[in-house]
Amino acid sequence: MDLGTSYLRLTLRNPIVASASPLSGDVGAIRQLEDAGAGAVVLPSLFEEQIREEERLIEMLTNVGADSNPEAGSYFPDAMKYNAGPLGYLELVARAREAVDIPVIASLNGTTEAGWIDYAQLIEQAGASALELNIYRIASGPTVTGGEAEAECVALFKAVRARVALPVAVKLHPYFSAFGALARQLDQAGADGLVLFNRLYQPDIDLSRLRWNNDIALSSAAEIRLGLLWLSLLAGRLPRASLAAGTGVETADEVIKYLIAGADAVMTASALLRHGPEYLQTLIADLQTWLTMHDFASVTAIKGLLRSSHPDAEAQERGDYIGSLLGYRGHYVQR
Ligand SMILES: Cc1cc2nc3c(=O)[nH]c(=O)nc-3n(C[C@H](O)[C@H](O)[C@H](O)COP(=O)(O)O)c2cc1C
Repeated sequence: MDLGTSYLRLTLRNPIVASASPLSGDVGAIRQLEDAGAGAVVLPSLFEEQIREEERLIEMLTNVGADSNPEAGSYFPDAMKYNAGPLGYLELVARAREAVDIPVIASLNGTTEAGWIDYAQLIEQAGASALELNIYRIASGPTVTGGEAEAECVALFKAVRARVALPVAVKLHPYFSAFGALARQLDQAGADGLVLFNRLYQPDIDLSRLRWNNDIALSSAAEIRLGLLWLSLLAGRLPRASLAAGTGVETADEVIKYLIAGADAVMTASALLRHGPEYLQTLIADLQTWLTMHDFASVTAIKGLLRSSHPDAEAQERGDYIGSLLGYRGHYVQR
């Protein structure tokens, strides 16, 4: 059985990728993910706030030292070790690449163009197999239009693309007004992959304490439908970008559905956080069993099997929409 796939111009031994989460935050854990069978691993994001904090700290310590002690430079090493900020991150990239054979995809979440560019270059120099840009922005300001929010993403991507040669993926949430056009623009600008989708952080309200509850809720398989829809609409329509599914994998069923819809790779975080890295073995074994039972010789054989082939995707969507509502109405009346 050939489980291999191609994602971001990289060859993966199987399509299941451990997505960015604390599970891939140190070399030991990354080794465990490789041993359990991960096709590739995405490191947790380096946030620009971490970069700024480290810069601020280094500057503060050098200034204090310069005023009080001629050996100010000796403060530097402490500042470097202070947290697992940017320097620790670059070290993680380099050490992970040495420690495992699977691709190591770094992840960056910036707030300014300069922050993105500088660290994209450093991440490339540290030896990352690829870079995922975690563009997590909510256009909550009342003056930002949908077009502007999309244009900002594309400009940001282009700025990074112009400075690095390694494969670059863009991880996005689905809340853009015209996602298809955004995907096409990113593809034309040289994106090697799109991750559909990041999960939007959504707080809840704790009624007993009358407070916002800011915990992170893990996903469930019920959340795959939007990803399935967009994968099926985009698969085969982007000349360059490969596609990764991003949310709601609980069992191999979700992996298989995503592949059939058109994903080249399928990422999972919540399932691995719930069950541990070794759960990858179950996902891979169940994928293999399903392929064998259905007489498919490879993952490639099912990729995009049910992707949309309608020349007018919007017309198809409308047809499906009306069909399902009318179908439900008929079913409801019969009861
Ligand atoms: C605890 C936790 C930490 C995460 N950290 C990151 C991160 O640093 N960068 C990122 O792009 N996504 C991060 N994510 C999002 C996941 O990579 C993933 O996109 C999302 O959880 C949807 O996948 P899932 O349904 O398999 O959980 C995190 C998710 C969780 C649950």
